[in-house]
Amino acid sequence: MESASTAAATSAELYRRACAVMPGGVSSPVRAFGSVGGTPVYFQSACGSRVRSEDGREYFDFIGSWGPLILGHAHPEVVQAVQLAAARGTSFGAPCRDELLLAEKIVELSPVADKVRFVNSGTEATMSALRLARAATGRDLMVKFDGCYHGHGDPFLVKAGSGLATTGESSSAGVPQAVSGQTGVLPLDDEAALEAWFEQHGADTAAVFVEGVPANCGLLVQRPEWMAALRRITREHGTLLVVDEVITGFRLAPGGVCELEDYAADLVTYGKVIGGGLAVGAYGGSHALMDRISPQGGVYQAGTLSGNPLGMAAGLAALRVLEDEDGWARLEQIGQAWQQRLEPLLQREAAAAAPLALQRQGSIFWLCFGTSEAPRRFDAIPAAGADRYQRFFHALLDDGVLIAPSAYEVGFLNLTMSEDDLDQAAAAFARALELSR
Ligand SMILES: Cc1ncc(COP(=O)(O)O)c(C=O)c1O
Repeated sequence: MESASTAAATSAELYRRACAVMPGGVSSPVRAFGSVGGTPVYFQSACGSRVRSEDGREYFDFIGSWGPLILGHAHPEVVQAVQLAAARGTSFGAPCRDELLLAEKIVELSPVADKVRFVNSGTEATMSALRLARAATGRDLMVKFDGCYHGHGDPFLVKAGSGLATTGESSSAGVPQAVSGQTGVLPLDDEAALEAWFEQHGADTAAVFVEGVPANCGLLVQRPEWMAALRRITREHGTLLVVDEVITGFRLAPGGVCELEDYAADLVTYGKVIGGGLAVGAYGGSHALMDRISPQGGVYQAGTLSGNPLGMAAGLAALRVLEDEDGWARLEQIGQAWQQRLEPLLQREAAAAAPLALQRQGSIFWLCFGTSEAPRRFDAIPAAGADRYQRFFHALLDDGVLIAPSAYEVGFLNLTMSEDDLDQAAAAFARALELSR
């Protein structure tokens, strides 16, 4: 078989040109292959679970555009809905019927949202939810957890400071200290850290943000006791709990993690799946909270393309297929089938003193290299695992299987993945594990 490195001449040339006109050659940093090395692959088309590169190679895809493509690429019903919508006009800058229908569907399925506001990305959803939480509480501070990602809004680009109950330091150039100083960063899985923060800052803390299941630094599944403590402490202090379901919403269950866990969130943020592969985000909460948003209330938030007919049509089509085809139950079956194929590989690696752990929630999975026990917090992820991941990634890529170009990113399963597909992918994983030891 021709290896990816020799076959990737077109991608390499496109990337060389892109680097001249785009920072790092990409529109989003992880795409540049910085942590695995090599040259990003350019894709020209995709169908189901398969993506075709500009170099003419086909790959089996576990990235799924980082989560939106729960039905697989170019699902016929989504494509048709977008085509029909586009033919009627791509944007009116005015309300449209599909926007109402998608809002009604989200409100029907979400255990948190009595009302929903559409935006164009998960980043906009979390930024807007934070503004709303600050307005509703009259407080400025917020808390996030180490390893959780909530988009690239300034208040979220903050890493842990030196003490447990102190605010953090910016993790990006260009974020003023005045902004990062309003964000506390706590470890996951640690009730004592929560208590310490709230003892000191409870009366000033507007919101705690947590991912439904933290899935941006591996898949850090939390203990129910910790989630209960988080809910109890925030409630005791009049702090709003914002569950960021940009990844998990409408993926792990119709109502996301907020349906599965007793989080009783005050606000929820969505993205990815609700846009069917187009640029859609949303945030929602109770009538009382959401009625604070303009034009009804004084919290300003707007968007030229928010609720645009294409994104709304794609999202509606995706949710319709999931509902009609028993999508969530089937995704769980596909997840179980994938796990069954990976587990013997983990045993083999453990026997070869090259341990790795599998974490899976429904159709999201993560392999953590360097330990046989899946971690619950960021600082428990073995840093050394990233070296092996790099070799593993390239061995898979050479074999025609695409996983995220970072050891800290999860994999996504979709509804088109068949038993045969999973057999073949597992065989490729077995080969790549052996090659990467
Ligand atoms: C949990 C979570 N929140 C927010 C975001 C930001 O979403 P977007 O990339 O659409 O701005 C992401 C993106 O991956 C995410 O995973």
